[in-house]
Amino acid sequence: MSAAGMAGSGRRGGRMGFPEGFVFGSATASYQIEGAVDEDGRRPSIWDVFSRTPGRTVGGDTGDVADDHYHRWEADLDLMTTLGLHAYRFSVAWPRVVPEGRGAVNRKGLDFYSRLVDGLLDRGITPVATLYHWDLPQVLEDEGGWRERSTAEAFATYAGAVAEALGDRVDTWTTLNEPWCAAFLGYGAGVHAPGATDPVAALRAAHHLNLAHGLAAQAIRAQLPDAKLSVTLNLHVFRPEGPTGPEAARRLDAVGNRIWLGPMLEGAYPADLLEDTAALTDWSFVQDGDLEAIRQPIDVLGVNYYSTSHVRLHEGPVEPAPSPWSGADVVEILPPEGPLTDMGWNIDPAGLTDLLVSLHERYPDLPLMVTENGAAFPDVVEDGAVHDADRIDYLRRHFAAAQDAIEAGVDLRGYFVWSLLDNFEWALGYSKRFGIVWVDYATQERLPKDSARWYADVIRTGDL
Ligand code: NOJ
Repeated sequence: MSAAGMAGSGRRGGRMGFPEGFVFGSATASYQIEGAVDEDGRRPSIWDVFSRTPGRTVGGDTGDVADDHYHRWEADLDLMTTLGLHAYRFSVAWPRVVPEGRGAVNRKGLDFYSRLVDGLLDRGITPVATLYHWDLPQVLEDEGGWRERSTAEAFATYAGAVAEALGDRVDTWTTLNEPWCAAFLGYGAGVHAPGATDPVAALRAAHHLNLAHGLAAQAIRAQLPDAKLSVTLNLHVFRPEGPTGPEAARRLDAVGNRIWLGPMLEGAYPADLLEDTAALTDWSFVQDGDLEAIRQPIDVLGVNYYSTSHVRLHEGPVEPAPSPWSGADVVEILPPEGPLTDMGWNIDPAGLTDLLVSLHERYPDLPLMVTENGAAFPDVVEDGAVHDADRIDYLRRHFAAAQDAIEAGVDLRGYFVWSLLDNFEWALGYSKRFGIVWVDYATQERLPKDSARWYADVIRTGDL
């Protein structure tokens, strides 16, 4: 990272501060903030189609306008300057850049990201680009989407085109964001686009997302031999409950975490995952050479972290309802215990420390980056301000948990708060607010919440 982050150096409250050069950033994603879905040659993504299907999102919300960032990007960059962000993590919309999924590159679509990257660099903010944050061109879904390996091949071509255009102006290239959600929520549980409920499709999608990562990493390196490469995973932390807890956690860890870490970092799918899912598939969609293609050197692993799950094996009959956990349907995830965020997720900062430390133990030479952490709370505007003390408390405790991991020896390079702006929270539409900046959806006005001011102080002083 090129940003010079003076991030605190002394010992405070028994903890070391963040190391010199630690990167403080914030993150967003294209479909969640851009709007302008029909402009400059963009074609529909699976999220346009899904969100316009009655019953799929809360209130029928869509990303048609979202935060109108496509038109307001300059003011949003100025906001980042006010906060003192070192880095900004955004995603590139495939359906803007290659509207038909494969084939012709849409210059106007690329130009938007080119202007954005230049605007960041002009302001001294480091661009961190994600190439896939769930907005698959619908035309590719019509051909089978992530069920098919041709989608992985098309992704690599698109990734190469973006790398060629944005070149060395982008600091870090992230191939995929949370492929678990794309595969298991999108094709297994059906609660995300494209809304399929087929456990085999979810496993096929997982493999083709892995392949997409590997092929895209190669395509980017072909353009930019010194590119800093990464992938962002939502690695789940399971808290085993009772005597069957460890077995439940093992199963979920296989289909939630090691299904990515195995092929991407170790060149193989875990044997226990193949066994657990044997009744569903023989994995014959994994072809010769795929595992070599998937295992590409990466420079940093992105970790998104929000909460933990308490788990045990089911006692009694197994629910037939579609589960995102293909092959792990004998497992029970217990209702979270409060206090909860507005998403109904528990608050367990130690889970972040545990996750970072365990990754460091398994992959000691791999630098880590928290690419998302944050919380939705039921914010209100009072006298022109949003006093989101609960979000500040959440963030402070998670930053402290990251410091604990650093003290334990983890090579953690940075931290991106999710999210810069309130935005389209997927199936939950605009009903959940994760921003450190409030967005008035009627006027598109931005109002920094107390948490934004708090974060600006943390960036400036390094003190929590
Ligand atoms: C992870 C996803 O990457 C992001 O798009 C989403 O809004 C947040 N989690 C919060 O659910």
